[in-house]
Amino acid sequence: MLVLGVESSCDETAVALVEDGVVLANAIRSQVERHRPFGGVVPDLAARMHAEAIGAVAAEAFARAARRPEEVELVAATRSPGLVNCLVVGLSWARAFAVARGLPFVAVDHLEAHVHACLLAAPGSPPDPDAVELPLVALLVSGGHTGVYAYGGPGRMRRLARTVDDAAGEAFDKVAALLGLPYPGGPEIENAAAAGDPTAFAFPRARPKGRPLDFSFSGLKTNVLYTTRGQNARRDAPLKEGISVADVAASFQEAVCDVLVGNAVRAALEEGVATLALCGGVARNARLREMASERGGEAGLEVLLCHPAYCTDNAAMVAALAEARVRAGLAPRPADLSLPASSRSEAS
Ligand code: KG4
Ligand code: ZN
Repeated sequence: MLVLGVESSCDETAVALVEDGVVLANAIRSQVERHRPFGGVVPDLAARMHAEAIGAVAAEAFARAARRPEEVELVAATRSPGLVNCLVVGLSWARAFAVARGLPFVAVDHLEAHVHACLLAAPGSPPDPDAVELPLVALLVSGGHTGVYAYGGPGRMRRLARTVDDAAGEAFDKVAALLGLPYPGGPEIENAAAAGDPTAFAFPRARPKGRPLDFSFSGLKTNVLYTTRGQNARRDAPLKEGISVADVAASFQEAVCDVLVGNAVRAALEEGVATLALCGGVARNARLREMASERGGEAGLEVLLCHPAYCTDNAAMVAALAEARVRAGLAPRPADLSLPASSRSEAS
């Protein structure tokens, strides 16, 4: 089945073509350069840019896959969660495509798509149906969301843990800004950390009271602020003399990865699953991948690292999940053509 997938929940305009689980094209246009001067995504600007880009990104996907719009058999788009003005652009474009061609349409949840992305084979390769044993436990770490989920396949996703304040990616972005590094901060912190000492600063590993699997990153962010600029300092105070940005970046990254991996491994063991999966934009981080592999392996878990091409926002994961939902008999639902875009996830 040839599936056209569309993703526009934040600042990536993405269109993909997936056939029987094989990713034929995964076209993405990032808006990051336009948002960088503002230090984060500006929602109205993002929505306008999606509208300007989506036609060309779709044309690029068809060209790369060497397929024609007439060959598409199923259409899917992200409906939730995300910036509503942005979601509306991709959702409306995809629904119009489906209705004009008389095709079924599937509305997809972005978080479930991020987790499902762990099951995708490398671009162009066929998936191995025996490669992954379900259910698995997934650590989903992105700019907008951070949580641990039990995943038994399409429609069977249950949240086991969540952040009580900032998402992990958001923490990377905010700490990068504190260190004078540009947006998005995740890759910048990772680069800076490569030259630093991860034991230079003992940043806290916060555990919300009575919620042993949940995350909290806001205290860590404040700790970095006071460490780098002085106790009770304001964000615009100058950096302390002699402070090593590389050491702060490495110690911060170590603290975030430590708590993410620690809780995820614990959740996987409590659920009694064989596999721990890692997905979302922050899952591109090499130290997080390394730590998850090491500690998961020590705990007797298979560790499944989402292919880097499908960690940050993309439409291949949207198309692949839609196809899996149809094959599982869960989609299309009559409401898929009219459900509103939403900032809230369908996955609990
Ligand atoms: O999944 P994603 O593309 O968008 C959301 O759904 O939020 O994730 C974007 C986030 C950003 O916060 C970015 O800083 C972070 O992923 N990120 C990273 C790395 N690459 C991207 N964080 C840490 N290390 C990285 N290498
Ligand atoms: Zn995402």
